[in-house]
Amino acid sequence: MKVTVSRKAHFNAAHRLYRKDWSFDKNDDVFGKCNNPNFHGHNYELIASVRGEIDKETGYVIDMKVLKDIIKSEVEDAFDHKNLNLEVPEFAKLNPTAENIAVIIYNKMKSKLDSNLELEITLYETPRNFVTYSG
Ligand code: NI
Repeated sequence: MKVTVSRKAHFNAAHRLYRKDWSFDKNDDVFGKCNNPNFHGHNYELIASVRGEIDKETGYVIDMKVLKDIIKSEVEDAFDHKNLNLEVPEFAKLNPTAENIAVIIYNKMKSKLDSNLELEITLYETPRNFVTYSG
């Protein structure tokens, strides 16, 4: 019997969506306001969901303190109040779209979880726009 437990978190971060190998006009066509050379910010909301068997001894799928600490070290400490393009190495050559941020968060968190646990990342870039990645 598998159960999913979830924890919400949030971080604020700045980004710019563009490709260095494209002209400004082409970047403007594709990325619009997100191509602002002076960057812009989002209040990202994260839902990290962990699915697995209930441990017979503890009754937990995962200790929420453990999940909280993984989110803090891998997401909040790494991304909060940062410029994703300039300050987060994973995005030095990767466009920090919500899609790519969700994949990076998944990869970072998955490596810290027991291998028998499944992970799903839901990342809200705005209250209406969100992406989901589960490997
Ligand atoms: Ni944006």
